[in-house]
Amino acid sequence: MKTLIRNADVVLPGEIVRLDVLIEDDRIADLDPAVQIAVDETVEAGGKVLFPGVIDDQVHFREPGLTHKEDLEHATRACAKGGVTTFLEMPNTRPATISQERLLEKLALARRHSRVNYGFYIGATCDNLAELKAAKRTCGIKIFMGSSTGDLLVDEQEALEAIFAETTLPIAMHCEDEATIRTNRKRLGEITSVADHSRIRDHRAAWVATRRAMDLAHRHGHRLHVLHVSTAEEVELLKDHRKLVTAEACPHHLLFTVADYESLGTLVQMNPSLKTAEDGQALWKALRERTIHVVATDHAPHTLEEKQRPYPDSPSGLPAVENLLPLMLDQVHQGRCSLLDLADWMADAPALVWDIVGKGRIAVGYDADLVLIDMDQEKTVRNEEQLTKCGWSPWHGRTLRGWPVRTWVGGKTVYCHGVVRDDVRGSEVVYDHARGGYWATRGT
Ligand code: DOR
Repeated sequence: MKTLIRNADVVLPGEIVRLDVLIEDDRIADLDPAVQIAVDETVEAGGKVLFPGVIDDQVHFREPGLTHKEDLEHATRACAKGGVTTFLEMPNTRPATISQERLLEKLALARRHSRVNYGFYIGATCDNLAELKAAKRTCGIKIFMGSSTGDLLVDEQEALEAIFAETTLPIAMHCEDEATIRTNRKRLGEITSVADHSRIRDHRAAWVATRRAMDLAHRHGHRLHVLHVSTAEEVELLKDHRKLVTAEACPHHLLFTVADYESLGTLVQMNPSLKTAEDGQALWKALRERTIHVVATDHAPHTLEEKQRPYPDSPSGLPAVENLLPLMLDQVHQGRCSLLDLADWMADAPALVWDIVGKGRIAVGYDADLVLIDMDQEKTVRNEEQLTKCGWSPWHGRTLRGWPVRTWVGGKTVYCHGVVRDDVRGSEVVYDHARGGYWATRGT
């Protein structure tokens, strides 16, 4: 099957060029092929932007076990709509993904239900070191150094030392210091307002844990990816990356601040918590300077009923996969970043961090995971139009400019002008961990 996408503004690594792109089966076969080439389908892009499929390296899709909140079918239909062609999913499902057996079960579920490409983390516990050492067909190890949804906490130094010393897979870390969180909770006494969430999970909790994680990475020479960085102080720590540490920022920390508790309440309760406008600015600067490398969602759906429980009974987390790209495209219009920045943060960099083979950029021989974007389309985010099973968005009512209009996964159209094609399935991500991650290619 040959498809020719004609006259697109193609976002290549480092430049945007008006080109035709030839897809042959599941690969990008040629850029600007001879005009007389015979194809099965021609898509006239009419100057729209052709963007590499987004790789979201932090999502919680809740299957198995928590499927009243989300499941692979709903979540990956939402991905298709949002231009997310590959996801890496976290282990805090029920049961948790803490063994090879559980990984294989998840891979089998995804093979059946996922509309986009998929990969899964293996979760660390205090006593599954042998599983972590032997794990295969996984992007890496997830460690919750601070407690969050589920019970995958590892904050004992001895267990952390052993994981960093004895495993080789890259580690993704949730950095909030459990002891600081407990002390803050006790000091605050009776807690009734959701704004206290940011006082309990405060700047210090994030800084202490990120410093501790980086110390482990540096002493053991182990690759570390710091998830959802939320403070200016962590950005300062990350400057000392020593070519081992990469980092991620999420749209909620880039676009909301503690002031948003006033109107959105527990809907914007998440871990790590919201911080100040100054922290947000520091995250944007860090992304532009490549001190933070990846933008990902931490898509963490809970039902509206659960979220509307009074704090602190309300769970942490919010859904975002179907709005990540439009939210960031809107920021391009606002002059905060460029399309080239977005392609780097949301496709190329995550592919390099996780050693993903054949993805992350539009280049000959790469997988045909692509998104066609109408930069001028304006739409308002509406709860009732969300494809995520939880059926709401914290950005409900926001009008955004710049939307995906068509998404290809492995050369097949999975989404087109409002319609998800339910016959398309994604593939398991292939890793080459011997490649050595982001710094092996980008570090100089
Ligand atoms: O707010 C969050 N929710 N942060 C996490 O790290 C986990 C997530 C969830 O799974 O609900």
